[in-house]
Amino acid sequence: ARVAVIGGGQNCEHEVSLASAAAVADALETAGYTVVRLTIDRDGGWRHDGSPPGDGGCPVDLADAIHVLRTCDVAVPVVHGPRGEDGTLAALCDLAGVPYVGSGVLAGALAMDKWATKLIAADLGIAIAPGVLLTPSTAPGCRWTRPVVVKPVAAGSSQGVTLVRDAAGLPAALDAAFALDDRVLVEDLVVGREIDLAVLARPDGSRTVAPALEIVVAGGVFDYEQKYGGGADFRIPAELADTERKALEDAAVAMFDGLGCAGFARIDFFLTADGPVLNEVNTMPGFTEQSQVPKMFAAAGVSYAELLDLLVRDVLG
Ligand code: DAL
Ligand code: MG
Repeated sequence: ARVAVIGGGQNCEHEVSLASAAAVADALETAGYTVVRLTIDRDGGWRHDGSPPGDGGCPVDLADAIHVLRTCDVAVPVVHGPRGEDGTLAALCDLAGVPYVGSGVLAGALAMDKWATKLIAADLGIAIAPGVLLTPSTAPGCRWTRPVVVKPVAAGSSQGVTLVRDAAGLPAALDAAFALDDRVLVEDLVVGREIDLAVLARPDGSRTVAPALEIVVAGGVFDYEQKYGGGADFRIPAELADTERKALEDAAVAMFDGLGCAGFARIDFFLTADGPVLNEVNTMPGFTEQSQVPKMFAAAGVSYAELLDLLVRDVLG
């Protein structure tokens, strides 16, 4: 089959996506698929068949990119963050009539919006950090005395996220978050272990949760540097009591279905003394072989190539 792998994107996770897309494309090629590499540049331009994505490639306009996409049997949109993971690429594939791996428009958009995600989690009875939504007009009135985390509503890889332990740090944190979005969340700092879950949804309606992953960070905070600078360790399976594991898995599947996700997603939690607190849902999480989701499935005996092959075959039907 002919598979389009789309990487890059117009946001601060551009490089992260290039790495994910290159790894996905290489693995699918090795597995015998005909891979068409499409890259979205930072300025929104498209390139065709840069190898690896991002290195050169022939510039094409959007109409040509859609034309190339329509020559493919399936697309794998490996773009993280806004204008990719947020449902926009799913919409493009929907309009082009090309089936794709992963979540559709609504789930991508809801999961990219950390505020909407919280509202849905709360409705499902899943614990969330108390927080407020700020806009540039309400932000100046924000007073906070507890340690908080300030984050753009829609971003990824911890970009624009600041842990504020004392009120003097709040203005700079708000500036950093508003630089990436015009809506910002200020949440109570949750103290707990960072546990990620990966949910796989099969066409028969079954949901499989891979062994849970615990992020162990030397510096204490799993920020951009720790995510991609190699400072963090993954412990798989995370050491969990049966009741903890069940609570995490149930919450992960409930979020997956509550948002209407498809294919797979990574659901991130803090495990506190009172149980799991949802952090966020990623409908197109990091996808190199060293990233969390592939590592979790590898621990379940499903190799990187097998996981990708399965995701693609489930869409091909
Ligand atoms: N947003 C990054 C890519 C992740 O969640 O893995
Ligand atoms: Mg994320």
